[in-house]
Amino acid sequence: MKRRLVFVAIGLAAIFGVMQLVPYRVSNSPVKQEPTWDSGRTRQLAVAACFDCHSNQVNTYSWEKIAPLSWWIKGHVDSGRSSLNLSECTQGGGESDDAVETIREGSMPPGYFTWFGLHSSAKLTSAEKDELAAGLQATLSGWNCGDDDEDEDEDEDEDD
Ligand code: HEC
Repeated sequence: MKRRLVFVAIGLAAIFGVMQLVPYRVSNSPVKQEPTWDSGRTRQLAVAACFDCHSNQVNTYSWEKIAPLSWWIKGHVDSGRSSLNLSECTQGGGESDDAVETIREGSMPPGYFTWFGLHSSAKLTSAEKDELAAGLQATLSGWNCGDDDEDEDEDEDEDD
């Protein structure tokens, strides 16, 4: 009985070890183009609350690099970046409304991001949220930081 448990434990440890070898984790590519920030303060708030999922300057805790958690985070950052990447903006367009709305509605940053006191700098006070929303509104008008393909296809906006 005891020996069996030892084998199971070794097996699990081996699987866990192999999981760490899967090359699927968050990586940061070089910053291409940030929008022209209306103020340093707006950028500072965005870095605190948005950059960990919507930029090429994602910071992760060291324990978040451990699979399988790292896979989940990678998937999340990929989907966040594909809707909004503040490191890959192009001039023209202007889609500030989405980002501003998510902050006002409280859907961004996602609640789970600040659970258990994690990422505490992203837990904005309501005054800071107002500041960030207004700042992003001013900053992003005239900039396109979303997924270009999405804008071209436009098929996801047809909800009639
Ligand atoms: C913990 C990761 C994370 C953080 C931090 C975060 N987002 Fe997101 N965001 C996502 C993900 C994942 C998606 C895409 C899937 C979805 O809509 O939930 C997304 C989608 C969006 C979208 C697309 C529209 C929408 O509602 O789906 C906007 C705009 C957005 N985020 C803005 C922001 C802003 C502004 C901040 C900072 C105040 C922020 N996000 C912080 C993960 C994050």
